[in-house]
Amino acid sequence: MGENSGTGFVAGLEDVVAAETRLSGVDGEVGELTIAGFPVEELAGRASYEEVVYLLWNDELPGAGRLEDFRGELAGRRGLSRATLDLLRAVAAEKVPVMDALRMAVGTVRTGADDEEALALVSCLPTIVAAYWRLFGGEEPVAPDPDLGHAANYLYMLTGERPSEEFVRGLDTYLCAVSDHGMNASTFAARVIVSTRSDFVSAVVGAIGALKGPLHGGAPGPALDVVFEIGESSRAEEYLREKLGRGERLMGFGHRIYRVRDPRADVLASAAERLYTTDGDKELYRLALDVERTALRLLAGHRPGRNLQTNVEFYTALLLHGLGLPTELFTPTFAVGRVAGWTGHCFEQRALDRLIRPRSEYVGDKDRRWVPPVER
Ligand code: ACO
Repeated sequence: MGENSGTGFVAGLEDVVAAETRLSGVDGEVGELTIAGFPVEELAGRASYEEVVYLLWNDELPGAGRLEDFRGELAGRRGLSRATLDLLRAVAAEKVPVMDALRMAVGTVRTGADDEEALALVSCLPTIVAAYWRLFGGEEPVAPDPDLGHAANYLYMLTGERPSEEFVRGLDTYLCAVSDHGMNASTFAARVIVSTRSDFVSAVVGAIGALKGPLHGGAPGPALDVVFEIGESSRAEEYLREKLGRGERLMGFGHRIYRVRDPRADVLASAAERLYTTDGDKELYRLALDVERTALRLLAGHRPGRNLQTNVEFYTALLLHGLGLPTELFTPTFAVGRVAGWTGHCFEQRALDRLIRPRSEYVGDKDRRWVPPVER
């Protein structure tokens, strides 16, 4: 079974164009990410998450009045149904991992008109994650506060305390930076599901399943674990060398598309720097920078032709940790941001209305004959 074989089969669909989109464009050679016309560094750090959701769905930024209305539309849909809460309580008792609980709970969101589902999905993903995390820890969920913005309310529901402006800015930066990213695996999964004329809720359930894997959205937790395990800069080289020697991958480095540094890593690195150098754990921040430098040096020797660089997950881990989020919430929080793009792609795919149905090449035996089990 061959990669790039004469049949046209390309393992991993690498370099295969599977959709046209106006939502985001990734230029992996020069390290550029464009979100609906804006360079990622232009939006993330300035715009609120609600503005970016509106942008992705409508291809324009909302004016002040429209933004206020849109915020209200989202804030009014943050509450969870009885069915969702009952499910979260039941699975919290079983100590189900957060991404699995999120996947199950999103499946309880009511289906209906596309617009309504998209609003409900963006609004209630943070509520599901926060409610589940509190139940998981033996606490009661905190009801959403409609007077808070999307990012502030997420932090509030997690802790029960109103977050500082600096924290809200940090989280808004993160959510905007990861809101969409070309034809990544979870987005592709969502588009495939909608292409069958299925609903947006099913598409987002499928996307969450794809995001969960360690090669996609599951990397930031392990990336931070590595920093903690290393503990001090002088141990970084030996630790990382051993990891590579065992054939393991360094989480937070490398990317299918980027051949240079992921531009989201820069945006999140600036946000992390702001956070850690004002009020955060400066020692951890310095250690993480040393680990990154050492990892890049070792990876350059490990796969010389590949130019393995820092990806979004390394600084995601540092930033989200600085915002007080436990590692278990890193990937779920990625979903909280990426649902903007997933739903945007659902709208695009719905408008295109073309079933995604590639072919496969049969490479198995032919003309086998069935015989009864006792004769095999
Ligand atoms: N550490 C060590 N070696 C690596 C790494 C890494 N992080 N990334 C790639 N390599 C090596 C591979 O082992 C491979 O070597 P080989 O040719 O000897 O087998 C070579 O570089 C090429 O790797 P591929 O798997 O072909 O690269 P691909 O483009 O498919 O992989 C991926 C991209 C999956 C992200 C990979 O770099 C990786 O596993 N990184 C670690 C996990 C991670 O950080 N994931 C988050 C990605 S960002 C996101 O999805 C939001």
